[in-house]
Order: sequence, then C-alpha cells, then structure tokens
Amino acid sequence: MKKNTKLYEIAAALLAPGKGILAADESDGTAGKRLAMVHLPNEPENRQDFREILFTAPGIEEYLSGVIMYDSSIKNFTDDGTPFPDVLTAKGIMPGIKVDLGTHELEGFRGEVVTQGLDNLAERFAEYYNLGARFAKWRMLVNIDEDETPTDEAMRINCIMMARYAHIAQSAGIVPIVEPEVIHDGDHSLQKAETVTTRALQILFSTLIEYKVDLQGLILKSSMVLAGSKHSEQTSPEAVANATLRTFHMSVPHECAGIVFLSGGQTPERSTQNLNAIAKMGEQPWPITFSFSRAIEEPVLKAWDGKKENEGKAKEALLQSCKANSQASLGRL
Ligand code: 13P
Repeated sequence: MKKNTKLYEIAAALLAPGKGILAADESDGTAGKRLAMVHLPNEPENRQDFREILFTAPGIEEYLSGVIMYDSSIKNFTDDGTPFPDVLTAKGIMPGIKVDLGTHELEGFRGEVVTQGLDNLAERFAEYYNLGARFAKWRMLVNIDEDETPTDEAMRINCIMMARYAHIAQSAGIVPIVEPEVIHDGDHSLQKAETVTTRALQILFSTLIEYKVDLQGLILKSSMVLAGSKHSEQTSPEAVANATLRTFHMSVPHECAGIVFLSGGQTPERSTQNLNAIAKMGEQPWPITFSFSRAIEEPVLKAWDGKKENEGKAKEALLQSCKANSQASLGRL
C-alpha cells in the first residue's frame, strides 16, 4: 500500500500528549443501558440529550483529541440544528465512527463470536468521511473461559476481518482503531489474562502485517491486563502496569502509531489509577492514552440524573473526568 502521510498526521493528533479519546459510540441498544441508569426510557430524544451534554461540554477540547460516535449520532444534531460532528470539529476534536455491526455466534466454537460489518464498508466510509469522520473503530471480542477458550481459530478469523476493515479504512483516508477487547468478566487470574492478551495481540499484528495494513496509520485499542472481575485476587495498579506493558512489548510492533485503553467495566477511579500507573512506568515506544466509555460517562450520568436542570453539572463532571484521565495519561496523579 502506498504510504498515506495524512493518516499519520491524524493518528498523531489523536495521540497528542495529555489528550485522549471519548468512546461515546454505544449502539442504540447499549445507549439504553446508560439511560436506564438515570431512569429514562431508551428513546431517540433521550439519547440525543445525553449525547448533546457530552459533545457540547465547555473546555473538553483541552483533554479530548477525538470522540467516537455511532451511526445514529454522527447523523444527529443539537437542539439548535448543528450536526454533532460539526460541534466537535469546531472545538478541534476529531469525530470518529464505530463501524462494526456487533457480533454473531461462531458456529462450532462454544461461546465464541465473530464481528460483523464488512459488507458495503467502503461506501459507508465514504459517507462517514463526508460527515467529518477521520478515524474509526472495530471491536472483536476475546472471552476467557475454561482452558480452551479463546481458541486461536476464533481469534484468527476475527483478526482477518479486522485486517480487511483496517485496510478499507486506510484506503478511505480514515485511521482505523483496532480493538481486540479481552473481556474483564470472569474469575481468571492476572497471569491468564496476560497470556491470552499477548496471544490475541500477536495474532492480530501478524495478520495486519500479512494483509498489508500500514501500522504507522493505525491505533491499537486494548484492554488493560487485569485479573477477572470475579477473581479472588484483585490486582494493584503497579501489577496491572507491569503485566500490561510486558504484554505490549511482546506483541505490538513499534511502527504502530499508538495505544489507547478501554475501561472494560472497571470503576472510573480504578481505570484512572491504572492508567496513571502505566504512564508512571516511563516512556514507551508508542504514545499511550485513554479511550474510555463507561469510566468517563458514569460520573456524567450520576451528575445528570436525567434532569434538565442538572445539565450544567453533568458537563462539569465530564470536564473533571476528562481532566483526571488526561493527568493520568501523563502519570501526574
Ligand atoms: P469501555 O471504556 O466502557 O470499556 O468502552 C470502551 C469501548 O470502546 C468498548 O468498545
């Protein structure tokens, strides 16, 4: 593939020091789970209200380089009729788009799934580019369960789909984020999570290279390496930092533009502390920052409580959350 330096500029802007990415890319179904936390029904107006709080909060541009949206939100507007991506672009925040269409059961592989969404992807990218998107996200799931799950076969087919997505994105002038999410739920040990995450990332990067994806124009979105949420021994931030960085050094080529983290159902505090501990380990071959969804949105939802009169407080909670994670990404907490 011919080098497209424009992709490198986009990736560098997304990974600017002290900045991170807000993943506000819930499907309409998952957005309903957020709204249920504030006792609101999952209706388009409520989804729009929540997203408008997130995208219009004053000052967030100091800490956010990008926001990932979903098909229905990138095509939506504020109450005064401004398209959501234009609100973000005007602040200097890059609009991004989640393009995978969720997962289906992988027949023959108990409990394993394969991510969908390659059909018409080039056409969808052309539309999203025109709406302002300059980066995208595709998520594959890696569940840790018993001895034989995940299988290499399931990871490999997911990584091939991921490589196709990444290539199509780059051809459309869009920086792909590749997200192999190793699920935190379960009672596996930290060591098991490290082994599985290393294997998943090794398969992912060898497949991306085989299928000629330009790693300099690509961002990895990774889970932190954590003991399962139900495991008896939970892990200190230092142990998480050591295991996570060891994993990356075993699997992520230095050409990769950078690494961002999902929060994976950890509390906001824990996500921030773990990010801080990782940053405190010093400079790495890749820029590393946050791309949280739940860990950023939870405090916002609490402050909002679904009430118009709390919108100002909710925007302030978002700003504080972004600021804390920005500080953590610099190891300054
Ligand atoms: P969480 O931070 O809630 O894990 O979400 C990040 C994400 O993008 C999941 O796909």
